[in-house]
Amino acid sequence: VGREHVLSAPDELLGFNTDWTGRFVGNAAAVVRPASTEEVAGVIAACVRNGWPVTAQGGNTGLVGGGITRAGGVVLSTRRIDDVRVDSAAGQVIAGAGATLGSVHERAQQTGLSYAVDLASRDSATIGGTIATNAGGLRVLRRGDTRAQVVGIEAVLGDGSVISHLGGLARDNTGYHLPSLLCGSEGTLAVVTRARLRLSNQLAARAVALFALESAKSAADAALHLRREPAVEAVELMLRLGLALVCEATGLPAPFPGQHAAYLLVEVSAGEDPLLALEPIVEGLAAIDVAVAADPAGQRRLWAYRERHTEAINTLGPPHKLDVTLPLDAFAHFVDTVPGVVEGTRPQARVWLFGHAAEGSVHVNISGLDPDDEAADDAVMTYVAALGGSISAEHGIGRAKVRWLSLNRSEAEIAAFGRLKQALDPAGILNPGVLLGQRI
Ligand code: MLT
Ligand code: ZN
Repeated sequence: VGREHVLSAPDELLGFNTDWTGRFVGNAAAVVRPASTEEVAGVIAACVRNGWPVTAQGGNTGLVGGGITRAGGVVLSTRRIDDVRVDSAAGQVIAGAGATLGSVHERAQQTGLSYAVDLASRDSATIGGTIATNAGGLRVLRRGDTRAQVVGIEAVLGDGSVISHLGGLARDNTGYHLPSLLCGSEGTLAVVTRARLRLSNQLAARAVALFALESAKSAADAALHLRREPAVEAVELMLRLGLALVCEATGLPAPFPGQHAAYLLVEVSAGEDPLLALEPIVEGLAAIDVAVAADPAGQRRLWAYRERHTEAINTLGPPHKLDVTLPLDAFAHFVDTVPGVVEGTRPQARVWLFGHAAEGSVHVNISGLDPDDEAADDAVMTYVAALGGSISAEHGIGRAKVRWLSLNRSEAEIAAFGRLKQALDPAGILNPGVLLGQRI
């Protein structure tokens, strides 16, 4: 890859060895920065020969320790593979693994199209990382997660062989759908180097409203009604303490004169006038207060209250980040009761709830805990599983949740995971310890 693209000085490694939250610190001996799929294949082959573990890393915005290594070896940074080419005729884009989500959005918009997956870390998160974690983000309700967008993939398997199927044919049933398999595989089966992604028409005119509501439970209940409104694109939940923390940490002005127990941020899109589409929602919710934005700058201002939760919570020290989904009929009950579950286990902990309420998904962030104290995590994940939910709605299993995988996956499923791992990464060098832990 060229000597200048192998980093090994301790100060150069620091950023690649620490995850975004600061909770997970790795011990890679080197960072290698290949510029092409061929170079990635060469790096992996060298690592196989030497028995060095390889952890692929994009923008290092992961939140569960999946992008750092604790087995030593090499962090393979994909950032130099950042080409983006729109195929307007097919309505698709071909992007290198290291291209940021933001750059894909920009290129798509220049051709009158849009990429459906969007998240707050868009300017750092990479396409490869969003595929490896099957990122969801802010528009899953109508547009689906990353898996729903990936049409073709190029990747290097754990034995150094390259698989490439980037044709993007609208109909193509020629065997196993490897993009689906690699989405959410967290770098344990292959290093994704390039992908062909579906683009959508640009969003129709939009309006955003921030509603103040009287309780977390009523907001969660309302979100589940709103998801059935055809114009609604996103419904995001925030609570009093979280929004106050965002204002304090970022300097954003408070959205309303008073503070309220819960807030819903609702985005609608409509062919004609999106404000008209908001009217029945405003009437139906009977909120304590509401702020509406029809212009892009005003919409960004309202979204900032939600998007800046992550950085605001990080100012309190490394949080424990649990991203969970509940069956829709258990969601409001969970939102109402999970703070008590945490406080009953670790009274000193502070619980921050926010998230993608339209999909029954909520981020349970816990601050004030030692990074290795997992008692509250255990209580929450056990509670989620007992209610029929998922312990990872979007961030993946990473290192943070390995010990709880069996709450959601049967012995037979985990054994099948192990056989897939063995087949695609026979030397076991790809991201050891992540997702499957030491099982394999
Ligand atoms: C979000 O929804 O903002 C992201 O998943 C990041 C986070 O959970 O902090
Ligand atoms: Zn999220």
